[in-house]
Amino acid sequence: MNITVTHKLAKRLIEAEGEALSGQQLADEFGISRTAVWKHIKELEEMGYTIHSVKKKGYSLSGSPDSLQPAAVQALLKTRSLGREIEYVPTCASTQIIAHQLAQEGKPAGTVVLAEEQTAGRGRLARKWDSAAGKGIWMSVILRPAVVPQKAPQFTLVAAVAVVRAIEEVTGLKPEIKWPNDILIAGRKCTGILTELQSDADGIQALIIGIGLNANQDAADFPAELAGIATSLKMESGSGVSRQELVRAILYHLEVYTDLYISQGFGLLKTIWEGYSSTIGNQVRARMAKETLTGIAESITEDGVLQLRTPDGKLHSIYSADIEM
Ligand code: BTN
Repeated sequence: MNITVTHKLAKRLIEAEGEALSGQQLADEFGISRTAVWKHIKELEEMGYTIHSVKKKGYSLSGSPDSLQPAAVQALLKTRSLGREIEYVPTCASTQIIAHQLAQEGKPAGTVVLAEEQTAGRGRLARKWDSAAGKGIWMSVILRPAVVPQKAPQFTLVAAVAVVRAIEEVTGLKPEIKWPNDILIAGRKCTGILTELQSDADGIQALIIGIGLNANQDAADFPAELAGIATSLKMESGSGVSRQELVRAILYHLEVYTDLYISQGFGLLKTIWEGYSSTIGNQVRARMAKETLTGIAESITEDGVLQLRTPDGKLHSIYSADIEM
């Protein structure tokens, strides 16, 4: 059985959005016999797809497993370049490691690494990122923007706006962004973003944007130390969400906002980011490696640096910190 044809058939059926496709039409499209089509359909049913076979009309899809197989993600994908190449692994240490390797091997901008599970998912400040199998989106995106390395942190903010828009669109929930890279719902973290850089004397060679999104965990799926801190879209909305749909929406918005950034600069994106921010305008505590400052988070600069005013009237530039509200 040719697994590539099976996946292409899955993509075709998903794209038909429930409409029936005749066995003959599919046989012609894939250059195989109708019996072979039928065998691939059986294979898809074994993989968890629900396919109706309607006499004289053909095959129609009424349900599919929520796997992140490239064919399933790429069906209905609206992007120009993001996600057109997907490296899919059922399990890995970290999608960031794979993406770094692929970037070094010269894979094009827009290449995406997706895993069902990470055994050593990494977060900001060398923290561990809990990445249970099949429950979330563990994804790294390779970008190759022609900007100076100092601009790299802005991409974390661009990615945060893209993820918030995707969550709103797919679930109707109202997420907020906590500077610099946490996405919260009702005060609990559902997504983290980690931007890493490959650069040399010529500038940025690749930006690896890692996105960890808790989609379908129940409270019991999180380790005890994350109780009350982490949440998932399922916990907040009360029902399971389609990871496939979320990946497509994130890639779409990431492409739109990256294009906007490249064509118009950071100004408009900064305004959109501020509109979603739970940090700006509020009293916060910024914990840094050497000191902790409490004050009002007034704004972010064009470079994404947080401006914090302490009670003595001084304005502090915060480059990296844990923010508590
Ligand atoms: C953070 O909030 O500290 C950032 C978390 C980023 C986690 C994602 S999951 C996909 C990618 N692979 C990793 O190992 N980390 C990022």
